[in-house]
Amino acid sequence: SAPGHPTCPHHAPATPEPAPELFTWEFATDPYPAYAWLRERSPVHRTALPSGVEAWLVTRYGDARQALADARLSKDPANHAGSAAAKGKTGIPGERKAELMTHLLNIDPPDHTRLRRLVSKAFTPRRVAEFAPRVQELTDRLIDDFVEKGEADLIHDFAFPLPIYAICDLLGVPREDQDDFRDWAGMMIRHGGGPRGGVARSVKKMRGYLAELIHRKRENPGDDLISGLIRASDHGEHLTENEAAAMAFILLFAGFETTVNLIGNGTYALLRHPEQRARLEESLAAGESALLATGIEELLRFDGPVELATWRYATEALTLGGQEIAAGDPVLVVLAAADRDPERFADPDTLDLSRSDNQHLGYGHGIHYCLGAPLARLEGQAAVATLLKRLPGLRLAAEPADLRWRGGLIMRGLRTLPVEFEPGR
Ligand code: HEM
Repeated sequence: SAPGHPTCPHHAPATPEPAPELFTWEFATDPYPAYAWLRERSPVHRTALPSGVEAWLVTRYGDARQALADARLSKDPANHAGSAAAKGKTGIPGERKAELMTHLLNIDPPDHTRLRRLVSKAFTPRRVAEFAPRVQELTDRLIDDFVEKGEADLIHDFAFPLPIYAICDLLGVPREDQDDFRDWAGMMIRHGGGPRGGVARSVKKMRGYLAELIHRKRENPGDDLISGLIRASDHGEHLTENEAAAMAFILLFAGFETTVNLIGNGTYALLRHPEQRARLEESLAAGESALLATGIEELLRFDGPVELATWRYATEALTLGGQEIAAGDPVLVVLAAADRDPERFADPDTLDLSRSDNQHLGYGHGIHYCLGAPLARLEGQAAVATLLKRLPGLRLAAEPADLRWRGGLIMRGLRTLPVEFEPGR
């Protein structure tokens, strides 16, 4: 059968077809047909990434979930067989890298267990819940700036600034410094991962700023997350200043572009599915929140921000989905493909905001499961609900084919989202 149509996974096609080309412009626009092909024909697939590094792509839900929880797949880049070659490609200079890169997504137990336990004491669901009014206020303030114009770029004007201000507030970065963070983060999102001078300079400035801020908070603690990180202790153990800086950095880094893309991809999906959007508008108008809650989860499953989970490396030879993987090989779990697996989700290519059996992998799985999921849900729900309520007649102001997607490896998101609406106040 043609690519994109479910076939019985146990019957390989008689004549091998070449795998679809990955990482092209068409692929960045719509990777789902290629992922369907891989799921059916080559579910654990070896490929050369744009960087030249060879890696395995895992695209079936069952294999993906298993890989995310497999202790033989390490997060420590030192376990990459080609680690010497892979190093230096982040654009972050050596000594800064060592300081800021020793964070949750780059380490294994027991270090991971210790750091995660410490951060969890400071970054509690209660702290996030108390933050809800502030997120709503930020959301409204950003919309105030363009509501009278009748048009906006929802990425630039809304989805991009919201998470950065939210995380800065949560961490305790003073308001007057938050626009600096916005600029540094903008540099990182525009040129993420490339060995360009601007990224390195931004990371260096952020690092310098965070070190100083941590120092100040140690002298003068407040009610913010950085003060909480400094205070947190476990069996008498505290975070070192370097660990606290790396933690603040990963919270910014992991919580920023992801949330931009949840709001961007999610709003875009709603605008392309008018019947679903109308359901949600009716439910919000009736003062209900259940469809908003299941809807944000469905938007994550349908076109989530994290296309591929962050890197994993086999510490020993292992078999995954019937495929042998050598020690030192990189393994990339394709969350976007797993979350459209027809073996797991009924009508996976249909957006259904009320989908209830929805154990998607958009936030990962296992010990590295997203620490910021409660905050992401809070921001996603506030953003989508407020956009729909305050911008009546919201519609796309561009042809879908003309929209550009960022071609990054890990993240999936739009560069711009031009919209029109009835000007309001
Ligand atoms: C980990 C997704 C928002 C902080 C992860 C992982 C995923 C993910 C898939 C696991 C990566 C892996 O296993 O390779 C998302 C999505 C978000 C979001 C889709 C928004 C919609 C946030 C926010 C924060 C955050 C707002 C914090 C402010 C983290 C941290 C980790 C993580 C610290 C590492 C946890 C660990 O290694 O123990 N996230 N995230 N994320 N996320 Fe999120």
